Amino acid sequence: MNKALHRQRLSTATALCLVVIALPLASHADGAKKPAPTNPVWQEECGSCHIAYPARFLPAESWRSMMAALDQHFGSDASVDAQTADTIETFLVQNAKRSKSSQKAESSTLRITGTKWFRNEHDEVPAAKWKSPAIGSAANCGACHPGADRGSFRERDIKVP
Ligand code: HEC
Ligand code: HEC
Repeated sequence: MNKALHRQRLSTATALCLVVIALPLASHADGAKKPAPTNPVWQEECGSCHIAYPARFLPAESWRSMMAALDQHFGSDASVDAQTADTIETFLVQNAKRSKSSQKAESSTLRITGTKWFRNEHDEVPAAKWKSPAIGSAANCGACHPGADRGSFRERDIKVP
């Protein structure tokens, strides 16, 4: 075997190992053990009207669609200049939820609160709770997750008002 081919085989083997190591990490939807990934531009632009919703709660396709229509963002104009949008989109896509093929169907949703994952995770919250004055909207994560603005949703910190 010539040297170049040997090297190539080796690096393919290394890449495969990395995939195997990375998969269990990526499938850990909660991610509470690692510090939440952050980016100053994203934090500032996407954290001004609501918390900067963590990228890991939506698949890349959702973030791309959202970033393509920021001027019509849930009835608000959240547009930013092209370079800023580029920085934010790259960050969101890199840290997005890795969707399984079975989840592809809902990949177009722009709402975290509209995903099946969110409904399952919150099935113990009574329907009327979401509309109570102290909460107002399911999108108001911080009402029940005091660490939401820092990307922390740990079960033991949850306090439903
Ligand atoms: C000008 C204010 C404003 C800015 C800036 C803004 N948003 Fe929003 N965003 C809103 C409003 C209003 C809603 C709807 C909230 C609701 O329904 O309670 C929303 C909702 C969302 C939701 C859906 C929440 C849910 O229901 O699951 C996501 C995700 C989101 N925004 C991401 C972003 C990202 C990413 C950025 C930065 C590029 C951003 N937002 C910047 C106003 C803004
Ligand atoms: C009305 C209060 C309330 C709001 C608002 C709320 N949550 Fe929750 N959340 C809960 C409760 C209660 C649980 C635990 C459910 C259970 O397992 O019994 C939970 C669980 C979670 C978990 C799993 C935590 C773990 O470690 O098991 C995540 C992640 C999460 N919520 C994210 C969010 C996000 C993101 C938002 C906003 C888009 C949000 N939540 C809004 C009450 C809330």
